[in-house]
Amino acid sequence: MLTLNFTKFPTLETERLILREHALYDAEALYAMRINETVMKYIDRERPEDLMEIKTFITTFNDGFENGDNLAWVIALKENPGNMIGSIGYWRTDFANHRAEIGYMLHPDYWRKGIISEALKKTINFGFEDMNLHTIKANINVDNDASRQILIKHGFVKEAHFKQDYYFRGQFLDSEIYGLLNPNH
Ligand SMILES: CC(C)(COP(=O)(O)OP(=O)(O)OC[C@H]1O[C@@H](n2cnc3c(N)ncnc32)[C@H](O)[C@@H]1OP(=O)(O)O)[C@@H](O)C(=O)NCCC(=O)NCCS
Repeated sequence: MLTLNFTKFPTLETERLILREHALYDAEALYAMRINETVMKYIDRERPEDLMEIKTFITTFNDGFENGDNLAWVIALKENPGNMIGSIGYWRTDFANHRAEIGYMLHPDYWRKGIISEALKKTINFGFEDMNLHTIKANINVDNDASRQILIKHGFVKEAHFKQDYYFRGQFLDSEIYGLLNPNH
């Protein structure tokens, strides 16, 4: 059984980015992204009702990182670390099977500059080296080609296509599951 025990939030750095803990002052930026229909086009989740809901969300992240159940990083440029431009993180950690699901989103002003690639490389490495995950999973809407391409670029392989396994807003949607194995195991 995988057990994680972070005593402090694992801030990460890449060449251009800082991946840091959420702060309550990120609530507006996160809210703006979660109600932005360009960002949310293929994220089949209800949009937040209000800023309060996002603040509760942030508090949950911050209270829950220690055991690695909800490890969500704010993506910010090093030159402006207070300005959240995206997020990346592990959730639905399956401790029995050393497996976690990765998710990410970025403000459209920053798309196609290699930012999620840079963040993904670092967090995958962290997942395998520091969290000791055996596999990383990603679940995409079948029409989300940008997400599919980025996963393939980082070595993920398509593992499953579930037909109509997910109910959202009156429709049963298909899901595509991608997976990456820890190369050191
Ligand atoms: C998917 C997303 C995270 C990509 O972020 P990004 O920082 O723009 O991606 P990168 O610049 O690092 O791109 C890396 C690679 O991904 C692929 N890619 C990214 N955007 C793409 C697009 N619109 N169409 C096709 N391929 C795309 C390409 O292979 C790209 O490499 P290239 O630029 O050398 O061709 C971003 O479009 C986004 O936030 N979308 C909305 C949220 C979302 O759908 N999240 C995923 C939920 S599963």
